[in-house]
Amino acid sequence: MEKFVVKGGNPLSGEVEISGAKNAAVAIIPAAILAEGPCVIENIPEISDVSVLFKILQEMGANVRMLNRHTVEIDPRPVKFPMVSYEMARRMRASYYFMGSLLGRFKKASVCMPGGCDFGVRPIDQHIKGFEALGADVSIVDGGMVDIKADEILGTHIYFDVVTVGATINVILAAVKAKGITILENVAKEPHIVDLVNFLNSMGADIRGAGTDVIKIHGVEHLHGTNYSIIPDQIEAGTFMVAAAATKGDVLIKNVIPKHLESITDKLLKAGVEVEEFDDSVRVCRTGEINKVSFKTMPHPGFPTDMQPQMTTLLAIANGTSVVTEGVYDNRFKYVDELRRMGANIQVDGRVAVVEGVKSLMGAPVKAMDLRAGAAMLIAAMAANGTTEIEDIKYIERGYEHVVEKFRLLGADIKRVTVEDEKELVVKALS
Ligand code: EPU
Repeated sequence: MEKFVVKGGNPLSGEVEISGAKNAAVAIIPAAILAEGPCVIENIPEISDVSVLFKILQEMGANVRMLNRHTVEIDPRPVKFPMVSYEMARRMRASYYFMGSLLGRFKKASVCMPGGCDFGVRPIDQHIKGFEALGADVSIVDGGMVDIKADEILGTHIYFDVVTVGATINVILAAVKAKGITILENVAKEPHIVDLVNFLNSMGADIRGAGTDVIKIHGVEHLHGTNYSIIPDQIEAGTFMVAAAATKGDVLIKNVIPKHLESITDKLLKAGVEVEEFDDSVRVCRTGEINKVSFKTMPHPGFPTDMQPQMTTLLAIANGTSVVTEGVYDNRFKYVDELRRMGANIQVDGRVAVVEGVKSLMGAPVKAMDLRAGAAMLIAAMAANGTTEIEDIKYIERGYEHVVEKFRLLGADIKRVTVEDEKELVVKALS
């Protein structure tokens, strides 16, 4: 077991380079299954979620070859088994994108119900509704396998009952080679939806409207291999922005699309933090106190739920009381108990957190409850007085590339410590 040991109090300063977007990569990698030739994908983040997807592809028979640390070549032609086992699917939510891509290519898929971070109930009814509307039969059989079969995938009109990133992506993947036109309404508009559609269009797909409420897909018969570079990670960038603010730092965050960061920039400006935008970077600098700010998370272009734990952590050391409302998930405040151990004063009632700012946080042993909650713990630890030990760091490393190295380069005092290291220290001390 490994943990992070963080000595707080160092203001972050310098420059950091943002990696490729996790949530774009985890959609684009399964989408490569649809190609009739090799796909070269650049700007792939080196994170464990991506490694799991490569393993799934290899288990199905695809050739996966790293051309360098951030570029992969996927040749999906040898794929023979349109199936994702429980062992793989339970490790991450995005494994369910193989439902759409396998259905699109083979007209059948057998994929286990997905795992992923626990934010309360996370149904897949809208995915199933979409597959069925396209002409597929969907059944959930023994062991939580979702069996999907169709004689033909036929273009249709689908209105999603909730705005969902996952179902929007899955249904696009299933419909891209359908006969006729598919119109999807009330779709998600996140930057990674647009990136996936750009990837598919570069393979010869005919999809319009990504980034708006309505997506129109003219089904095509063939999709060829392609060469594509993934967009920068909006949430990794936002996490560094908030970390700079929380530590009274001054950081230039490079390789970003500032437009994707607008909702985060807006809240930081309201909090009294300086944010300067350039063509492909932002500079975040804090000299004064943090002001209280209330906000609600919403689908894009609203404030992203994946930045809620980090921003709540910043507000925990603000002047005054902020109200944070979680508008996407039922239960995304579980990490608050951990922040309280560090001296935060936050009351949670359902989807609402009332955050009464305190002067400072104190180091404490805490857990990363999930990926973004883990990022929040890192921010809290770097801003706190004293030393914080963060357990369950595997969650953080699912989605943040070289997180320790990046924060250390900005001046943070972070170490990755294994339990063995600690045992050795005790043995040494006793001998
Ligand atoms: N929902 C339904 N029915 C469905 C699908 C979703 O009711 O069939 C509900 C969910 O329960 C939730 C809301 O719709 O309340 C939004 O869920 P969505 O489908 O948009 O989320 P997701 O696809 O499961 C992706 C990201 C999450 C991110 C959300 C929202 C990936 C792999 N995951 O999840 O990212 O929080 O969109 O933006 O892209 C993360 O990166 O830390 C992360 C959790």
